[in-house]
Amino acid sequence: MADDRLDIIIFGATGYTGKYVVKNASQMCKDRKMKFGIAGRRKEALDAVVKEFVSDIEDVPIILADIKDEESLKKMTERAKILINCCGPYKFYGEPVIKTCIATRTHYVDVTGEEQFMIEMQLKYNETAKEAGVYIVNACGFDCIPSDLGVIFTQQKFEGEMNAIEIYISMWLSTDKKGPLLNYATWESAVHSLAHVKEIQALRTKLCPIKLPEFTPKLKLRSVLHRSDVSEGWSTPFPSADHSVALRTQRFLYDKYKERPAQVKVYVTLKSFFEFLIMAIAGMLLLVLSRISCGRNLLLKYPALFSYGFVSHENPNPEMQKSTHFSLTFKASGWTEKLSEPTDEHTDPPNKKVITKVSGDSPAYEMTSIAAILSATTILNETDKIPDNGGVFTPGAAFGKTSLIEQLIKHNIKFEVISSIEK
Ligand SMILES: NC(=O)c1ccc[n+]([C@@H]2O[C@H](COP(=O)([O-])OP(=O)(O)OC[C@H]3O[C@@H](n4cnc5c(N)ncnc54)[C@H](OP(=O)(O)O)[C@@H]3O)[C@@H](O)[C@H]2O)c1
Repeated sequence: MADDRLDIIIFGATGYTGKYVVKNASQMCKDRKMKFGIAGRRKEALDAVVKEFVSDIEDVPIILADIKDEESLKKMTERAKILINCCGPYKFYGEPVIKTCIATRTHYVDVTGEEQFMIEMQLKYNETAKEAGVYIVNACGFDCIPSDLGVIFTQQKFEGEMNAIEIYISMWLSTDKKGPLLNYATWESAVHSLAHVKEIQALRTKLCPIKLPEFTPKLKLRSVLHRSDVSEGWSTPFPSADHSVALRTQRFLYDKYKERPAQVKVYVTLKSFFEFLIMAIAGMLLLVLSRISCGRNLLLKYPALFSYGFVSHENPNPEMQKSTHFSLTFKASGWTEKLSEPTDEHTDPPNKKVITKVSGDSPAYEMTSIAAILSATTILNETDKIPDNGGVFTPGAAFGKTSLIEQLIKHNIKFEVISSIEK
């Protein structure tokens, strides 16, 4: 890769997420002596971003690029070693950017949580990315860094053989203020993803046509509403991208290193039964309405109504963002002893339980932007610790053997072992 390239270009720098990435990149790139530029389709808006967030840095190049103009994308990606893509919904905007990155041998990270997009990109571009020596890593934001790397962290700390892991996700506010918490594009991404949810199973099968051997004891899905000993409140299965990404990572580790894959289930914990009820109603409406065109129009026109005020056409309030907190608790079980082959069956029941936690503040944009920047700098600085010579990766598959977890810890995203019990 030519040395005169910028280390990083932040594409979509004028967007809500993009601005957080620019704001945090200004300090993080300075600390790492890395040079970054910003890109988007509107010159004036990009100038305003520079003025607001990076006026203290001498030279932040501005690159004009429009997703609809292939040549402009090429001129942008060939100027960077890695691109952080903040333009979403990725279903609509992601593919041309990935394609151009591969063509110009530019590494790529994004913050998508759209499962269909991720699987399609892996199916279409894994081989060409490998041939080009380019790393394409999706889901480097709150979706799915804490969950995917949390599973990896638990496996690293397990000391034995992990069979199964249950993830309990909680989010809460430490303010009484009301207002939108998520930007409209996230809602748009979710609505369009859910519209195609039926196609996902076929894509999963296409990606992994050979089933994994069955590992026992089988991890069963818990009931729609249950209480867990690791998470206070009411928990319910959570069909987010975290589950699919964690499974794809585990599959990769099994295929590549013959490591026993963990069985994974994901739940969300709500504080009260009332919260559960609201979420269940909103979830059902979202699922049903997103399938039909007029339903989608309604969802997109009245986001506040259907999201209980969590999303609107207004930008989220940054003060409220700061008062948002998250924790993911991992409840893992397995054996103290590791057998020689991943498919060897243990004759005794699991005799070890480990509980770990990943937690932090301001998940949607602050944490997401930090995770995306650290993912990008890790690709540049620790290429030798990332498997293969390129390809389309989940975060866990790409970063499992790098120092990314330690770096996240240094940036106030806590990874900790809560308990480890042997019978
Ligand atoms: N997984 C997570 O945890 C997480 C967290 C945060 C965000 N996200 C995802 O990130 C994505 C972006 O969210 P956001 O709230 O930042 O959206 P946003 O504020 O609407 O920003 C979208 C960006 O895309 C740019 N864009 C749109 N069309 C373009 C085109 N044809 N050419 C060049 N640029 C174009 C926009 O440029 P203009 O300013 O010129 O319109 C803007 O910079 C969403 O998919 C969201 O779901 C995920």
